[in-house]
Amino acid sequence: MLTPPEHQDIVVVGASGDLAARKLIPALYNLFLEGALPEVCTIIGAAIQDWDRESFVAHAHDAVASFSRTSLEESQFREFAKHLAFVPLAEHGGMDAVRAACDAPKRLIYLAIPPGAIMPVVHELAQARLVEGTSLVIEKPFGFDLASAKELNRTIEAVFPREQIYRIDHYLGKETVQNLLVFRFGNALFERIWNRDSIHHVEITVGEALGVEHRGAFYESVGALRDIVQNHLLQVVSLVAMEPPAAFTAESMFYEQYKVFRAMEPLDPSRVIRGQYGPGVTGGEKVPGYREEPGVARDSRTETYIAGTLHVDTWRWAGVPFYIRTGKRLARQDSRVVIVFKDVPLNVFRGTEVEEVKKNFVTIRLQPHEGISLAFSAKLPGPSIQIDPVTMDFSYARAFKGTPPEAYERLLHDALVHDHTLFIATDIVERAWEVVQGVIDNPSPVIPYPAGSWGPEEANAMMPSGHWHMEESEE
Ligand code: BG6
Repeated sequence: MLTPPEHQDIVVVGASGDLAARKLIPALYNLFLEGALPEVCTIIGAAIQDWDRESFVAHAHDAVASFSRTSLEESQFREFAKHLAFVPLAEHGGMDAVRAACDAPKRLIYLAIPPGAIMPVVHELAQARLVEGTSLVIEKPFGFDLASAKELNRTIEAVFPREQIYRIDHYLGKETVQNLLVFRFGNALFERIWNRDSIHHVEITVGEALGVEHRGAFYESVGALRDIVQNHLLQVVSLVAMEPPAAFTAESMFYEQYKVFRAMEPLDPSRVIRGQYGPGVTGGEKVPGYREEPGVARDSRTETYIAGTLHVDTWRWAGVPFYIRTGKRLARQDSRVVIVFKDVPLNVFRGTEVEEVKKNFVTIRLQPHEGISLAFSAKLPGPSIQIDPVTMDFSYARAFKGTPPEAYERLLHDALVHDHTLFIATDIVERAWEVVQGVIDNPSPVIPYPAGSWGPEEANAMMPSGHWHMEESEE
């Protein structure tokens, strides 16, 4: 049961953008259906658009119809739409108009805008006296590199006290990502072997079939390193590698995650593989190459794929490589963490037909086919000893009948009830930039890969067994 938030309004700055349409408006609609929004609440869309309330309501309707995880119910949407208001920001003094549109003494203001627009908007909020009573939610990427992130943090924190700032990384709101913590710390079995004594290496993939959609111009200045590695991937690494927190509270989580971030060795740019998709076929559809996407330079060197090896220098993880990779226009959407265990100390079946005993591995499927599986060896039925790899599988859909709620619903609700546990602290943001800064400063050349593949071959060659563990789920 979700805690009902206190009386406050919700403002989405950047309400006409991609994020608002795909994630925020559908999340607000679903929270409304669950009765998890404040009872009295105006949802104010603000954007540089010459829209009025009706056009915003029509936009929200389309967004819910296209992207909501629950299907659009017209009568429910009409009730939801009663909460909607729109403020055009094209005119000077747009933030004063936002303040005038807010009825409640408190509000959540969500900045769904590009990083370059954040500082000016924060100053406008201050000028419009929209600091007191505001919970400020900021989208990643937080800054453009270490120096700009520091400047951005200083600017925001000069205006807003830390406890009013919520830096969102929606991966932390994913059920499957949180389940990593329950899997590790809610079971006595796995934690005992979750260390360098038993684990050979860790593989983390955030794979997308999508291209850059309508965001070519934005993505050009960002690339996969800033878009996914600096935030989503490193956050997942920190949850896989962290020590048990004393409790599931914002403070304990911060201490343990921060320790991992401090212990990460900065990525070595000479060992990072950067790729860029060319034309190809994905999901049965012919798609253009990255350089042909609108808003992208014909000679662009922005990476749409990146793979590298990360080391976490702690007692628990010394010598265990964390292989990380992400890419757009890959063969399919597939994000997973694979924990690969060490070999058995001795092959007692030598001299039989068994030449090799395969490594055990645990796969945490973040999306799709959310679930966890354990791969181990079994004897193939028959008179001789032969080994076959088999899996034990937990599937969210089978166990909990349905797909998990969207990350943005969880995180928006957490911000509405002032729970910071799943938001990113300043020090972690800055440390994460330190880890990737070398790659920003000395990028290796981009290697082309065809859309619909798994990225450049070089990324397989860097793996101990020459490939990534990607067995498909049965679902
Ligand atoms: C966003 C990136 O943070 O995450 C997008 O900016 C990416 O480029 C998206 O597509 C992926 O999120 P998810 O939840 O679909 O894995």
